[in-house]
Amino acid sequence: MGEPKPRECPSNPIGVNNLDSKILTLLDIPIERKSANVFEVLVTRQTRREFCKLEVGVLAEFLWYTAKTARIQRRIPPPDWEHRPFPSAGGCHATQILVISPSHGADYCGFYDHCAHGLRPIEVEDVLATVRDQISEVLPIQDGTLIFLAADPSRISGYYTNWESLVWRDAGVLIGGFSVVAEALDLNFCPLGVSGSEQIGLMLEGTTYLGVGVCILGGRRST
Ligand SMILES: Cc1cc2nc3c(=O)[nH]c(=O)nc-3n(C[C@H](O)[C@H](O)[C@H](O)COP(=O)(O)O)c2cc1C
Repeated sequence: MGEPKPRECPSNPIGVNNLDSKILTLLDIPIERKSANVFEVLVTRQTRREFCKLEVGVLAEFLWYTAKTARIQRRIPPPDWEHRPFPSAGGCHATQILVISPSHGADYCGFYDHCAHGLRPIEVEDVLATVRDQISEVLPIQDGTLIFLAADPSRISGYYTNWESLVWRDAGVLIGGFSVVAEALDLNFCPLGVSGSEQIGLMLEGTTYLGVGVCILGGRRST
């Protein structure tokens, strides 16, 4: 991969992905601010591979603490600069979060709307069984929530030349953050070795999204 360089004159995005999902299901905002000692969380964090179904509110908390946009600065050309819990090259946050969430329904798949703190459903019924089967070959999903990281080149290619490695590093930053927040919320979490590009190709056919990571998140069995 080439060395990325910020463009002196950022250009308008090419191939903007408009999934046209007008339905927005707002998620609850955590009422009480959680407190956890980050050093203790890091000591106890480990990959856990048993996944119970999550309550909708717990998934909402996870997304809030890992990915909710906190500040925006308008910028031309788009995308706007955003501040979220974890850093991203140029504040572009090119990596979007797509969840297959059994908590929302058997066939539910939706994009996280980072600004609104909600989910925007997409139609994937035809390919969902294939996607689940393919991922279960890597690690049984059980009742877990699947998280796909889908990089949108149109959010970063206007700001950098050779941007490709930046979206992979953004995805790594996010996966590390997911693992810490999952532990802090007493959830089980496992990143997977597959990129998800095949599944993103099936679910988001006709777009330019790239699969840059897949993870499984689930509740813990009460002991
Ligand atoms: C990029 C990445 C890919 C991974 N892929 C898998 C995987 O496909 N299956 C799996 O069971 N664990 C996977 N893991 C989890 C690692 O196996 C785990 O982090 C490692 O064994 C260390 O254990 P720990 O996380 O408990 O410290 C992956 C972790 C990362 C960061």
